[in-house]
Amino acid sequence: VRHLVGIKDLTESDIHLIMETAGQFKEVINRPIKKVPSLRDVTIANVFFENSTRTRLSFELAEKRLSADVVNFSASGSSVKKGETLLDTVNNILAMKVDMVVMRHSSPGAPHYLTRHIKANVVNAGDGTHEHPTQALLDSFSIREKFGDVAGKRIAIIGDITHSRVALSNIFCLQKQGAEVMVCGPKTLIPKHIGALGVRVGHDVRAALAWCDVANVLRIQLERQQIKYFPSLREYSLYFGISKQMLDELDRPIVLMHPGPINRGVELTSDAADSSHSIILDQVENGVAVRMAVLYLLAQL
Ligand code: CP
Repeated sequence: VRHLVGIKDLTESDIHLIMETAGQFKEVINRPIKKVPSLRDVTIANVFFENSTRTRLSFELAEKRLSADVVNFSASGSSVKKGETLLDTVNNILAMKVDMVVMRHSSPGAPHYLTRHIKANVVNAGDGTHEHPTQALLDSFSIREKFGDVAGKRIAIIGDITHSRVALSNIFCLQKQGAEVMVCGPKTLIPKHIGALGVRVGHDVRAALAWCDVANVLRIQLERQQIKYFPSLREYSLYFGISKQMLDELDRPIVLMHPGPINRGVELTSDAADSSHSIILDQVENGVAVRMAVLYLLAQL
């Protein structure tokens, strides 16, 4: 496979290879000289049709650490605003001799569409409510770093599952590695048929926290909601918000994760987000090594 569009397409051994390669790159980027020549003469375009802080900067740093040439494109401020199509935009970028495209787009399936129409490698940096494969890979890498293995661990994904691409990619990624997965949130924010994926479904955040080794907490994605869902943010924080006290009171240690951006005071209190349970900034750090691994491995194909 010359592309990474979703975790659904990966095997357990593909994921294992990415984890092992990311481990090696993490050692590299912790050295005084962080750069390797692996992708010298490879040109990568980061094409973002949606806002991003972590994913975009992390891909750019990963590419630069691999010595690739990098160009960055944002839809805002571009000729997309004059009506240029996705394919015309990407083909014009590729005409400048670009080898790989990292794309974020609000439409589920947009990267799959690109793979059918262009020759360059495509990496999905998040497509609407569908998948965010490198986020799931960096989440698994962070769990492995903390516990040594993902197999047998219990992971609760808590929050707005319906509108989350992080949830779906994590479900695929964790299950392929032998973890048990629960999704927890208000009934209105959990898809009706999610149980068919083999996950537990819960609506009680305290029960989810008591069950899991890792709580991966997601924000409410108001920007993707076509209609106003119950609960409101105030109600959500009242019934599903997680505080440091709730984590401290558990019988056994728990690891707290969040893909960012955090809505402080909604899904997490500040003291929970900044507590010793949290590995949120480790996730961000690991994103660079994991994206280096993905880009390096794709370039070998
Ligand atoms: N986790 C994540 O995708 O964050 P950004 O939207 O800031 O890239």
